[in-house]
Amino acid sequence: MILIRGLYKSFENEGKEMEVLKDVNLVIEDGDIFGIIGPSGAGKSTLIRCLNLLEKPNKGEIIVDGVNITSLNGKKLRDLRKNMGMIFQHFNLLQNSTVYKNIAFPLEISGYSKDFIDKRVMELLELVDLKDKKDAYPSMLSGGQKQRVAIARALALNPKYILSDEATSALDPLTTRSILGLLKSLNKKYGLTIILITHEMEVVKEICNKVAFINDGRIIEWGNTYDLLNFPKSAEVKQFIKESSLRIDKEGLLKNVS
Ligand SMILES: Nc1ncnc2c1ncn2[C@@H]1O[C@H](COP(=O)(O)OP(=O)(O)O)[C@@H](O)[C@H]1O
Ligand SMILES: [Mg+2]
Repeated sequence: MILIRGLYKSFENEGKEMEVLKDVNLVIEDGDIFGIIGPSGAGKSTLIRCLNLLEKPNKGEIIVDGVNITSLNGKKLRDLRKNMGMIFQHFNLLQNSTVYKNIAFPLEISGYSKDFIDKRVMELLELVDLKDKKDAYPSMLSGGQKQRVAIARALALNPKYILSDEATSALDPLTTRSILGLLKSLNKKYGLTIILITHEMEVVKEICNKVAFINDGRIIEWGNTYDLLNFPKSAEVKQFIKESSLRIDKEGLLKNVS
């Protein structure tokens, strides 16, 4: 379980302090697929990066399984990061390494034996259905296949949490479906807790059991997806839902034309 309490984060921009997260409070329970949705620049990436301390909060607490992580360093910080696999919009694969090597990478830097790594990588390739691409380079893969490699790499060290920052935003609707399907099956099969950032309402509807709306660094509303989408309380969330469905309709229309 992750408890976020009174979280603040600011950046300095040209000598000026810019507050990007303002009193964020959330509870992410084990087994959740927790969506964080909001417009560009709202602070979503900064929030998720605070969870593995890629960004250090200015104030507040993040309690992961009973431990306040905000002041961790050394081995304890490394252990936290091993427990939080991360996937990104642009996959962040090593371009000059094969699929096998990309997935093996976190295992190699953690010092596992060659035999262990070989067994684990083969398991992961099977899990993401890419056994036949073992020796391919990222440039030879489709977007969906690249994201599968990234997911396998994120799972290599057996994390409890997956942090997903717009992981389907560069993919077409059909591929998005298949990647979301994979994440959902990992959640079901292994009880993986997924924290998923998106700006697309469709993604939230498809797999998130909980959702938080963030705008300008503040959580506007959060709770069960069903309740929030059907009975939003704030004008901001109502408007966001309305705009999102317009966007989806428009995209659907464009797709039909092309
Ligand atoms: N390292 C940084 N230094 C300065 N400003 C940053 C940094 N990272 C993000 N920001 C600013 O913080 C705000 C929120 O960014 P971000 O968390 O990336 O939003 P989102 O992911 O919702 O689009 C933006 O105004 C962005 O320019
Ligand atoms: Mg972002």
